[in-house]
Amino acid sequence: MIRQTNTNLASSDVDAGYEVDLPIDGSDDASLQRARPIPRISIQAFCENNNMANVVQTASEDRRLSKAHVSVHMGGATAAVQHYQESPTPNLIVVESSLPRQQLLGELDRLAECCDPGTKVIVTGHVNDVILYRELLKRGVSEYLVAPITAPQLMESLSNLYNDPESDPVGHVYSFIGAKGGVGSSTICHNAAWTLSKALQSNVIIADLDLAFGTTGLDFNQDPVQGIAEALATPERLDEVLLDRLLTKCSEHLSIFAAPVVLDRDYEITPDGCDMVIDVARQNVPYVVVDLPHGWSPWTKRVLLQSDEVVITAAPDLANLRNAKNIVELLKQSRANDSPPQLIINMANMPKRPEIALKEFEDALGIKALAVIDFDPETFGQAANNGQMIEELNDRAKAAPVFRDLAMTLAHRKEVKVEKKSALAPLLEKLKLKR
Ligand SMILES: Nc1ncnc2c1ncn2[C@@H]1O[C@H](COP(=O)(O)OP(=O)(O)OP(=O)(O)O)[C@@H](O)[C@H]1O
Ligand SMILES: [Mg+2]
Repeated sequence: MIRQTNTNLASSDVDAGYEVDLPIDGSDDASLQRARPIPRISIQAFCENNNMANVVQTASEDRRLSKAHVSVHMGGATAAVQHYQESPTPNLIVVESSLPRQQLLGELDRLAECCDPGTKVIVTGHVNDVILYRELLKRGVSEYLVAPITAPQLMESLSNLYNDPESDPVGHVYSFIGAKGGVGSSTICHNAAWTLSKALQSNVIIADLDLAFGTTGLDFNQDPVQGIAEALATPERLDEVLLDRLLTKCSEHLSIFAAPVVLDRDYEITPDGCDMVIDVARQNVPYVVVDLPHGWSPWTKRVLLQSDEVVITAAPDLANLRNAKNIVELLKQSRANDSPPQLIINMANMPKRPEIALKEFEDALGIKALAVIDFDPETFGQAANNGQMIEELNDRAKAAPVFRDLAMTLAHRKEVKVEKKSALAPLLEKLKLKR
């Protein structure tokens, strides 16, 4: 378990610390959380056995590699050498080899002779041999992995090669979608994003993709002139400087990429355009929270499938259940290596409305709800009218801890209560020492 208590918290703000809650370090889950998207590169793997070929194949189908072009060949190092004598080398070659040390080094020297200068090489071998490892590094091999390796481990290694966390921050993307229109998905999205920015004191961008009817501006009491539509119209022009101009700052750590909310313009959003805009945003902040409209189009699907985490908000009725189930199934099919989406049941216990019981809802979907938020028109209505978040309006509101919990779960943090010390504590400590 990596324990990293965040020390940047303003003491007046919070009485709790936050710890990273990652699974055991070497586990596949931990590798998956550390593996970030790989850029548009070409990868060619030369495997010796089917296990390794399957690992590369599984990794190539993962969303993190969706931009990369991967091909799998058999024959190991020897086949790689033969192949590249006639063909140009890709960005990255993955070579599996069970050859003894000297022979493997010999093959790699031959491979080096036909490698283009920019090509990187990862070797997977079957011996845990330090001398071999050193010799490989000397020859410019980027990484030596000892077999058997898993797809998450391979993805983590690829990610480490192409994303430098120091120079190249790659933020997390969380998408929020309602199982039906009007179920409170945007409200939950905005409150979770606001809480995240405040609790972690980390920069968060809310991207409002409900171009015609989005409420991000209203919810944060802002009336921006420019926003996400300008970025989506010419995504290739978006860079750090333009992004900064198009964002509206709501608080020290929270900015919104607001929707234009005008109807006389036609919005042509493409999946690739969305990808590019979200990519630029995530290269600039650690958290990008996407508010998706309820509706279905190629770009909504792409955003959902590419996100690090998905939050589905549903009201407890039949249509919500059916739609939520379809979304959960789609995500399960296309994101075999990711954890299931988070489910929030909203507007529960509405007077006089027949509802599906929580357990039935959860059983039908096969996932547990992270939280159930009651129908509370007074609090939610007031907050919406004031352009405030729930916690700003009333930090004792029943829903306030839900947003905290949701934000921490998405960021894989745990809230750790820090004992409040009395002002006399340092003095008492000194007296204790003297005794
Ligand atoms: N738990 C709740 N109790 C009462 N009202 C709520 C609750 N949650 C959200 N609302 C209200 O419901 C309305 C719709 O919420 P919101 O716009 O967030 O839904 P949405 O799912 O994003 O809708 P759309 O489909 O238009 O995107 C808002 O007025 C909001 O204040
Ligand atoms: Mg909405």
